[in-house]
Amino acid sequence: MSYLGVQIRCVTPQDKDSFFEAYKGVYSSKEEAKAFYRRFLDNGWVSGAWKDHKLIGVLTWTPRECVKNGLAEIIDLWVIKEERRKGIGGKLIDHALEQMKQYYQRFGSKLQRVMLFTGATEEYSTARALYEKKGFHIITTIPQDTLDNLYCNEYLYVLRLST
Ligand SMILES: CC(C)(COP(=O)(O)OP(=O)(O)OC[C@H]1O[C@@H](n2cnc3c(N)ncnc32)[C@H](O)[C@@H]1OP(=O)(O)O)[C@@H](O)C(=O)NCCC(=O)NCCS
Repeated sequence: MSYLGVQIRCVTPQDKDSFFEAYKGVYSSKEEAKAFYRRFLDNGWVSGAWKDHKLIGVLTWTPRECVKNGLAEIIDLWVIKEERRKGIGGKLIDHALEQMKQYYQRFGSKLQRVMLFTGATEEYSTARALYEKKGFHIITTIPQDTLDNLYCNEYLYVLRLST
């Protein structure tokens, strides 16, 4: 998928150097980032946006348990500051949804719902506007410091796909 000179495609193990470079400083070490992300890269569960061979945005997702339950989770989404508000985040969601559907079909099932957690504060208002534009709805609030949300309440969002 190509959009305004930006290529949207799965991030593969061959892209690992630029991928792990982007996570420098997020994890305590490169080894931790590799240990966490290896399975996502190996399975094609990372959609990436590339401009002039530079990784400028990422969406990581995972199936939740067995595909027969039809539930996937988006666990990470970002676009670099300079490239925001150009529709790239939306295209990453579109690309990942297509990959999810194909994955569920591959195992004889159907993607029915996609869930994600995001912050309830102003800092995450852009992300929330994007998710809501894509059809996600708030299901419940996760109170601050009950999961890994040490600093603010989070919302659980769910997108229901039409059957
Ligand atoms: C959230 C994020 C990925 C969006 O990426 P993006 O490429 O800017 O998103 P898009 O350009 O596709 O935006 C699509 C929609 O989101 C909303 N949106 C985007 N930027 C917005 C802003 N600054 N203010 C309000 N709404 C905004 C709009 O509804 C927009 O649609 P429109 O441009 O047609 O009005 C990006 O802002 C980001 O990386 N934020 C920091 C990390 C983060 O919060 N990640 C989510 C954690 S769960």
